[in-house]
Formats: sequence, structure tokens, C-alpha cells
Amino acid sequence: MSDEINLRILLANRPSGFPKESDFIIEESSIPIPEEGEILIQTEWLSLDPYMRGRMNDQKSYADPVAIGEVMVGGAVGRVVRSRSPIYEIGDVVEGRLGWQAYAISNGSDIRKVNLDLGPIQTSIGILGMPGLTAYFGFLDVCEPIPGDTVVVSAASGAVGQVVGQIAKIMGCRVIGTVGSDSKLSFVVDELGFDAAINYKKQDVGNALDVTCPNGIDIYFDNVGGFVTDAVMDRINTGARISVCGQISQYNLPEPEFAPRNMSILTRKQSKMEGFLVTKYQSLFDDGRIRMAGWIKSGELKYREYVVEGLENAPRTFIGMLNGENFGKTLVKLV
Ligand SMILES: NC(=O)c1ccc[n+]([C@@H]2O[C@H](COP(=O)([O-])OP(=O)(O)OC[C@H]3O[C@@H](n4cnc5c(N)ncnc54)[C@H](OP(=O)(O)O)[C@@H]3O)[C@@H](O)[C@H]2O)c1
Repeated sequence: MSDEINLRILLANRPSGFPKESDFIIEESSIPIPEEGEILIQTEWLSLDPYMRGRMNDQKSYADPVAIGEVMVGGAVGRVVRSRSPIYEIGDVVEGRLGWQAYAISNGSDIRKVNLDLGPIQTSIGILGMPGLTAYFGFLDVCEPIPGDTVVVSAASGAVGQVVGQIAKIMGCRVIGTVGSDSKLSFVVDELGFDAAINYKKQDVGNALDVTCPNGIDIYFDNVGGFVTDAVMDRINTGARISVCGQISQYNLPEPEFAPRNMSILTRKQSKMEGFLVTKYQSLFDDGRIRMAGWIKSGELKYREYVVEGLENAPRTFIGMLNGENFGKTLVKLV
């Protein structure tokens, strides 16, 4: 390992609008050496997620921004290759916020050991990790599904959306997804078993919702915001539950739009709209993982990954994801 280098991707500039590859620096440095109580982890898979766009801005939201010249924030999974910790042994598989880098040091406070019995290693940062748990708790707890409910989920083929739609089917709901291409539309209907889907780039979303949801909408799991959300809001039923998971259509706008437009409908329809962060459910994560792993084993829950090889491709893959180029959970394979 001594003649190997650590490849790291740092934030170079704070983007205005969509990030560019020049907003990142790919840097080679020496592999860090763990101190007493620390471990060295070799990253095997890196997760790319929409929240990272927010961390590139100089604004504190629910977490601090990445500083210019700092390693980009990111969840990753890898193996312990050196240990000066009594808790971790060489070969242990661990997951946490290791960042966009080939090797990371940890004192153990920000990582967890991965149970490989539940699924392949990369599922620990995908369907059995942050995005899958977001779908699981954001749907089951915030949306409180009842069998027979009509559920709409946006960004339906993505890391979160594909899981939401399938859990909704397991719960006995009717599920309609909104997606950005015909191949994503076929995937959610033909492979995942959604009842219908709408290509929001080609179809009039309002008209398509009228056709696919003739009895109105009981649950909306919102990943996107903007005009898709406006069209859904106009069609909610009395007692609807709306889970505001994300607003990706707004992340690269210089000024967010005023969306949704039609808030008074919440009063008229006596409905609730609730934002959440997956971290709220941290103490329950293992329960969610075990239940979803069971559904995967029984064939009730499928997952699609969008894998790109090589850390140096992370910036362009991340930018592509913000533009809808990913088809499934976006992952970078390093080893
Ligand atoms: N609350 C939480 O704790 C939490 C945790 C994780 C994720 N999230 C949020 O969940 C959402 C989905 O995340 P993910 O990881 O599953 O991402 P993803 O769906 O795998 O990838 C992002 C997708 O968003 C869609 N998209 C991009 N621009 C859009 C636009 N202008 N209008 C509509 N759709 C657009 C694209 O799909 P199409 O080709 O279909 O447009 C793209 O593939 C994001 O908003 C994210 O911030 C929230």
C-alpha cells in the first residue's frame, strides 16, 4: 500500500445553477496513516445523492456546507485495511460519510459495520442504506398508507422513488409514478409493477393524472417539487397525506420557485403535508433494513442500480444525475 496514492475529489468552486466539472478538483495525495484509536478504510463504493448539491452552496441548512478545497461529502462503503482500534479488524466492512475519496480515516464515531447477510455490499448505501430507508420511513410513517389508497410518487425510477412505489404496492395501494423518459416509464410499470406512469417531459401531467387517478390522489410522495407537484396538489382527496421528501427541480435554480402554488387546497381537503429528514428515524434503521431485506429475498422488492466505474468519473456522474441521466440508484465503483 505504501506506493499507492489516495485519490480525492475536492470542491473547487461554489456553483451557480447546475454544477460543472470545473467545480471539482481531482487530487492525488498520500494515503493517510491512522492514529491510535483510528482505522484506515479503502472505499469500494461511493453513493451519489441529490443532497450533495445543497452542500456545495455557502448556506447552512440541516448540515454545514462543504468548504472550498475540502473533500466532497458522500456516503460510502469500504473495508478496513489498517486498524489501530480495538473495535474494528482488518477486513471489516463499514459504511458512513467517508467522502469522495479512495481512502478515509475514521475514529469509528461516524461509521457502522455492515451486515453482508442482508444484501450485496453496495446495497448498504442504496436500497438498504440512506435512500432506501428514506423511502421506507418517509412512506410508511409520513404517508400512513391504507390498502386501496391511490399513491403518486415523483422521480419514480430513482433511488428513493422506485422503493416508495414498490412498498406502496406491498401495502395494497394503487401506484402511479412520474418519470423523465419512456424507458423509465416502462421500467416502473413492467418491471416494478406500478399501475401506471407519466412521462412529465412528454405528457401534460394534469391530464395524465386525470386519466390515471380517476378517483383522486390519497398520497403524494414528493421528490421533485415544481410543476409536477402543482398538478398533483390540484387533485388530492380529502385527508390526503403528502410527504415532502425532496424538491430536486429547485436545487439548481438561482431562486426557488414558489411551489407548490395551491396551498389552500390543504385546508379545503383537510390534508397534511409534512417534510422529513431520514435521520429522524435513525434509531429504527435496523428494523427498516431487516424488513426490506426480507422483501428483497421474497422477490417483492426489486432494485435497479446505475453504476459508473472509477472515482474520477464521480463529478460528471453527479452532474448527470441532477439532469436525470441516472437510471436507478447512482453508485460509483472504486474497487
Ligand atoms: N428527506 C430526506 O431525508 C431525503 C433523503 C434522500 C433523498 N431525498 C430527496 O429525494 C429525492 C430523490 O433522491 P434520489 O436519491 O432518489 O435521486 P434519484 O431519483 O435517484 O435521481 C434524481 C432524479 O431526479 C429527477 N429529476 C431531476 N431533475 C428533475 C426536475 N427538474 N423535475 C423532476 N424530476 C427531476 C431525475 O429523474 P427523471 O429522469 O425521472 O426526471 C433524476 O434521475 C431528491 O429530491 C432528494 O433530495 C431526501
